[in-house]
Amino acid sequence: MRPDGNVDRFNIFSIHGWAADRDRPQGTVDVEIIQNERLVATVPARGVRGGVMEAFWFNPFECLAYGENRFEVRFAGTRTLVPHGRATLYYDVHSGPRFATEDPMARSKARWRGSEAETSLTWGSVMTGDSFIDAVAEHVDFARLPGQKILEVGPGYGRLLATLLARGHAYRSYTGLELSEDRVRQLGEKYGDARTRFVWGDATSDQVETDCDLFVCSATFEHLYPNLVATLQNVQRQLAIGAWACVDFVQLDPEMLVSEAWFETKDSGGAFVRVYARAELERLFTGCGFEIAGIASVSPGRGPGGEIINRILVCARNAGAPVAVTPSPRPAAPRVAFAEVDVADVSRLWRGLRQLRDAAPFKPVMDRISDRPAYVALKRRLSTLLRGRGGF
Ligand SMILES: C[S@@+](CC[C@H](N)C(=O)[O-])C[C@H]1O[C@@H](n2cnc3c(N)ncnc32)[C@H](O)[C@@H]1O
Repeated sequence: MRPDGNVDRFNIFSIHGWAADRDRPQGTVDVEIIQNERLVATVPARGVRGGVMEAFWFNPFECLAYGENRFEVRFAGTRTLVPHGRATLYYDVHSGPRFATEDPMARSKARWRGSEAETSLTWGSVMTGDSFIDAVAEHVDFARLPGQKILEVGPGYGRLLATLLARGHAYRSYTGLELSEDRVRQLGEKYGDARTRFVWGDATSDQVETDCDLFVCSATFEHLYPNLVATLQNVQRQLAIGAWACVDFVQLDPEMLVSEAWFETKDSGGAFVRVYARAELERLFTGCGFEIAGIASVSPGRGPGGEIINRILVCARNAGAPVAVTPSPRPAAPRVAFAEVDVADVSRLWRGLRQLRDAAPFKPVMDRISDRPAYVALKRRLSTLLRGRGGF
């Protein structure tokens, strides 16, 4: 193997770079993401970079531990680092504000609270909800809609509802939950009736319905900071078991490998944008208790420069399973066997613990935790690992 590559970006939402094996110009490689000596993901370097399939992305956000996160990016199956593939990300209360250059949650919502031209909500022009509703119809039986309850988050100017109505779909009730007070007023004036209402509120925390059968949401979940988890969990509590959740997302590459996030500049709106890889969407929806029935591309139209807007629509059913994802879910059990752990690292850790135990400022704390089961178990594990291997 003649490994080549580079890690170009390390931040709390993106580890991104490229990797290739120059001995196999036609082949592709995988990279391993190691966090604090544990393998947390194996990701393919198969995104297009300079016309070649070499780029990889990994979003570390959901597996960040509070404090120090030592990351390494290695060529899969080897201990060879991808060049510049080592960095430490510190995750603490200051990380979000540093990333956003102010309070990230407030900033992500401020973008949407106002009253603005309809065109600035959907890629520079007013669009229909036709392609979205067509794709939803591949899964959802609209013939049953007259007896059913619909929930929408972020209806904007009512694009999806307008298509449903234009196609003559009746429903038992429709509730649109919207962050902008002014848009709620305008939508109520235009569409409000005995079955159709709009509520001013925040989908991340507000519950406005129960037992809904269909949840729809377009061009909104990518703007939820830091991720969709809290909102999807909150939506799930308002759905019946078996209900459909149909939500679309940004699609930047056909294979959906790209995973990154950023805040737009203030001049261009200031929104938080998170692009999810397909694997992340599968993990997050499943973890929130949904069963994915389909993931398909949809396009609502063209952007200001004539480019086709690509979206990815996830259609999933509420399985009612207990919610398994926390806002910062920990990765599954480590896949690195203890036998593979570098003994030198373990010795350092062991020595560090002993120094910590004896260091004056920490002593009172260490005295308090030193008989805690977790600490005792850690000590036992470390001494087992070191036994007969030269130890310290
Ligand atoms: C980009 S616009 C899309 C509008 C509409 N869904 C469409 O596709 O035409 C995003 C919409 O979601 C709303 N929104 C953003 N965050 C929200 C939240 N946390 N709760 C409710 N609505 C939200 C915004 O106010 C805005 O109307």
